[in-house]
Amino acid sequence: MFYKIAQKFMFQMDPEKAHNFAMWNLSKTANTPLNCFYAQNITPAPVTCMGITFTNPVGLAAGMDKDGEAIDAFAAMGFGHIEVGTVTPRPQPGNEAPRCFRIKPAKAIINRMGFNNKGVDYLIERLKEKRSDIKVGVNIGKNRDTPVEQGKDDYLICMEKVYQYADYIAVNISSPNTPGLRTLQYGDLLDDLLGSLKSMQTDLAKQHNKYVPIALKIAPDLTIEEIEAIAASLIKNNFDGAIATNTTLSRDGVSGLANSTETGGLSGKPLNELSTKVIKRLANCLDNKMPIIGVGGINSAEDALAKFDAGAEIVQIYSGFIYQGPGLIEEISDAFRAKTL
Ligand SMILES: Cc1cc2nc3c(=O)[nH]c(=O)nc-3n(C[C@H](O)[C@H](O)[C@H](O)COP(=O)(O)O)c2cc1C
Repeated sequence: MFYKIAQKFMFQMDPEKAHNFAMWNLSKTANTPLNCFYAQNITPAPVTCMGITFTNPVGLAAGMDKDGEAIDAFAAMGFGHIEVGTVTPRPQPGNEAPRCFRIKPAKAIINRMGFNNKGVDYLIERLKEKRSDIKVGVNIGKNRDTPVEQGKDDYLICMEKVYQYADYIAVNISSPNTPGLRTLQYGDLLDDLLGSLKSMQTDLAKQHNKYVPIALKIAPDLTIEEIEAIAASLIKNNFDGAIATNTTLSRDGVSGLANSTETGGLSGKPLNELSTKVIKRLANCLDNKMPIIGVGGINSAEDALAKFDAGAEIVQIYSGFIYQGPGLIEEISDAFRAKTL
């Protein structure tokens, strides 16, 4: 009920301004009695994925809390985990605004934020301040002005810095808004990146006496052959998981609607089927060798159940959370519990 009122108000605002307003309020109220406006008591639905036990299978997808400023607020809402980031080694402003657009009739969003974030050192300070015990994944990327051929170094810098503060690390090579980034999804560049990250993980696990799983986040805009090649590289390099999917460049399901021709990645309802299809294909290729975190267009418990059926072990929401509100967390978690009981 509270969310419906808040949403009505925020949907009058420019999407990015509404986002900043909401994040500011959440960060200020997280550990105060004012969190009663959004705190939820969700019946536990524990699930183990990548060796981590989550209180329920619903996470907040990367990009909403890029700098880790409202982790405790999202914990109060009842999320099973939150993926913060994408974070880059150095702070960067991202693309010029406006860079985020609602397509309300399709329950969709187009964004070309371009990894705006305050840098990895700032994020680490926020992780140190976290009071709740919610599981936190840290999604890492490269700075826009780092050439793709040297992109690997940015991932390694971020990984080394966040390792001891993260429950898992997500490697984002699938954002459409950093020029050239998606080329890291292919061939030797991918193999080299995954191999280097794996070898650093092995060193860091010894150094910190703590094993932090690493997962690769992929795009939905891949051919079957490309999915096969990525799966082969994930298996070869002993990765711990895959996150499918990021936003799409396709405009299926939104053509003709206001804002549909904006440049950027499309998320929300129109992405749902495509993302489920990619999860299914990836699951076939991975052959149970590593878990998949399913994300893309989940707007209901039914959508989430389809992701589990396709092969996802846990799920994440972003656009659906904007359009449906925090109630979606409980809806999905309860449906998952009912399914697994
Ligand atoms: C405004 C916005 C910003 C995003 N930023 C990131 C990001 O920084 N890193 C990332 O891996 N994904 C990012 N995403 C993608 C989401 O994490 C998710 O993969 C995608 O939106 C599909 O899920 P959804 O349909 O539930 O939104 C962003 C999405 C939106 C809408």
